Amino acid sequence: MKKIILTGDRPTGRLHLGHYVGSLKTRVDLQNSGEFDKIYIMIADAQALTDNFDNPSKVRDNVIEVALDYLAVGIDPLKTTIFIQSEVSELTELTFYYMNLVTLSRLQRNPTVKNEIGLRGFNKSIPVGFMNYPISQAADITAFDATCVPVGVDQLPMIEQTREIVHSFNNIYGNTLVMPEAKIPDSELEQRLPGTDGKAKMSKSLGNCIYLADDEATIKKKVMSMYTDPNHIRVDDPGQVEGNVVFTYLDVFAKDEDFVKFLPEYKNLDELKDRYRRGGLGDMVIKKFLNNILQELLRPIRQRRETLSQNIEYVYRVLENGTNDARKHAKGTLKRVKQSMKIDYFETDEFLKEIIDKYQEK
Ligand code: TRP
Repeated sequence: MKKIILTGDRPTGRLHLGHYVGSLKTRVDLQNSGEFDKIYIMIADAQALTDNFDNPSKVRDNVIEVALDYLAVGIDPLKTTIFIQSEVSELTELTFYYMNLVTLSRLQRNPTVKNEIGLRGFNKSIPVGFMNYPISQAADITAFDATCVPVGVDQLPMIEQTREIVHSFNNIYGNTLVMPEAKIPDSELEQRLPGTDGKAKMSKSLGNCIYLADDEATIKKKVMSMYTDPNHIRVDDPGQVEGNVVFTYLDVFAKDEDFVKFLPEYKNLDELKDRYRRGGLGDMVIKKFLNNILQELLRPIRQRRETLSQNIEYVYRVLENGTNDARKHAKGTLKRVKQSMKIDYFETDEFLKEIIDKYQEK
């Protein structure tokens, strides 16, 4: 069986450091591993509209922002097909048939959907399109015969729902759909990078993000205003490392080489933490260190982003070509699905033969 990746993001804003460690980095690594026969990355504009239907311009604008972020982090259009969801109408058609295989109560049990209903203020009345998006996500995944879906942990319920749909479709209509598997980052910290304010998650609505497109001064300002240990007032005070968001970020981003480059007084993070715990290490030192590391990580990404934004027609063509490529694959799957469901009336002459046999016997 072919090894195929499908994943994507809703275009509702620029991508940030949480997206980077939680999924973009994995995607680039998987892309460059050479282990996959085909890789699709989808800009999920139709899904974004399920809770932004009243603001289509926001979605439209962010299609390009997200594409810029993808290309800037190293998603290579020669190796990865980047496409726009709404332009592949086969996905909507698949969704319609999968809807028969899922109950309303099953959708209501989805913990990510539950949480989002609260966040969006849909408690009183939930738009059907929104409630339905996990089913449409199953269409996204199965349309491309994806075996591997690299996502953040919040997406695990969607993959589980997809697997249930695949299971029941294949049971009812015969083996047609490929069973996908989720791939999440190895470490818990990468799975959910906290915001710069120490809150559980980096998220646009909480305003605690470092964006991939942020300029040098903005990144520095955000790092310098990060929370540390509120009881670590004087340099000599002993400090706490646990729950100190600067150290949480260092856990994710600091490599031993960074100490050689930016903080040669210490060999590694264990030594630095030790010193902080004992006292005698100021917050400015650790923040400057983190700032240096993040600047080095984000500088090339931002520069590529700037270069690409000066050649925006190239980005448009990447999406156009990718979408044409993706559509071909989805068409093939839809054909298989309709054949399995016996609704492929005019594809071959089988149906005609069948009815002639049946009606001429009379
Ligand atoms: N739900 C995903 C998000 O919120 C986006 C998405 C849509 C997706 N379809 C997908 C992710 C299929 C993986 C596979 O970011």
